[in-house]
Amino acid sequence: MKYIHISGTDLTVSNIVMGCMRLNSLSKAEAERLIRTAMEEGINLFDHADIYGGGNCEELFAEAVGMNPSIRDQMLLQSKCSIRDGYFDFSKEYILSAVDGCLKRLRTDHLDLFLLHRPDPLMEPDETAEAIESLHTSGKVRYFGVSNQNPMQIELLQKYTRQKLIVDQLQMSMVHTPVFDSGLAVNMKIDQSIDRTGGIYEYSRLKDITLQAWSPFQKGYFEGPFLGDYERYGKLNQMIDSLAGKYDVTNTAIAVAWLTRVPSNIQVILGTTNPQRLKDGCSGSDIPLTRKEWYGLYAAAGNMIP
Ligand SMILES: NC(=O)c1ccc[n+]([C@@H]2O[C@H](COP(=O)([O-])OP(=O)(O)OC[C@H]3O[C@@H](n4cnc5c(N)ncnc54)[C@H](OP(=O)(O)O)[C@@H]3O)[C@@H](O)[C@H]2O)c1
Repeated sequence: MKYIHISGTDLTVSNIVMGCMRLNSLSKAEAERLIRTAMEEGINLFDHADIYGGGNCEELFAEAVGMNPSIRDQMLLQSKCSIRDGYFDFSKEYILSAVDGCLKRLRTDHLDLFLLHRPDPLMEPDETAEAIESLHTSGKVRYFGVSNQNPMQIELLQKYTRQKLIVDQLQMSMVHTPVFDSGLAVNMKIDQSIDRTGGIYEYSRLKDITLQAWSPFQKGYFEGPFLGDYERYGKLNQMIDSLAGKYDVTNTAIAVAWLTRVPSNIQVILGTTNPQRLKDGCSGSDIPLTRKEWYGLYAAAGNMIP
């Protein structure tokens, strides 16, 4: 397992993260096995959100590991809030109460990282910043970040808070590449040139913000895995299978490696509930895909290399 240091913090994190969004499909014993497997593989960061399973995923996580100070010390916990019933909420009142809920369900007195889940156009940045400062001062949250935000949204909130926003969590995979597309096709009159992220990849490198990739195996928006879908992604799956043979790993590992190969140290959030698939994903933590292979996979996914 490769570990990365998050700039400006004392956090050393595995570049593979266990995502807990689907945890509530498991029994307590199955959840425990999955979390133990993750820890044995070297994963030290677990991604939660108040919305996952309506809070059940956080509760089950704490119950499955039998959360106590000694286990808590062996892991870093990250949670998120802002998604409510049909709207997003960056109000101070909501953020403070949401974090209290996360702490209670996870049976801990602090989160190592707290992210604002989806941008709220009705945000009053000074109010949101007050919530951030209060959470930091009270010791309930150590470090802060965002999710699904572009550089200008980050800049706006950053202007109002002294706490550096250190993480942006975005959908990224071999078949979901807007983070890279426009940078690869600057100034061309093709769809790939359309900047859908405000240049978040380049911005994150300039500002030492760690990108976290959600849904690394999903096509579209939760439409199921692209791995093994030879009908829609035949060329891509053939190339993945061939590289899996070369590196003596599974196709899952190659899908992960395409993201971990990026030099800005992207963290990949695995959402699997299957311990073997989790192990397979972890073996993609540090595979030295060549430039030719990385670009080849990008092209095989249907993208143009100018
Ligand atoms: N910030 C955000 O807005 C946001 C949004 C979504 C998710 N997230 C985070 O990102 C994490 C990962 O998201 P995700 O769960 O959508 O990601 P994912 O890892 O791409 O998808 C996991 C799902 O795909 C299935 N799967 C993966 N590979 C497969 C294969 N080869 N064959 C069959 N099934 C396969 C898994 O089934 P098995 O369980 O059977 O392996 C599981 O149902 C979440 O847990 C959450 O922490 C964040």
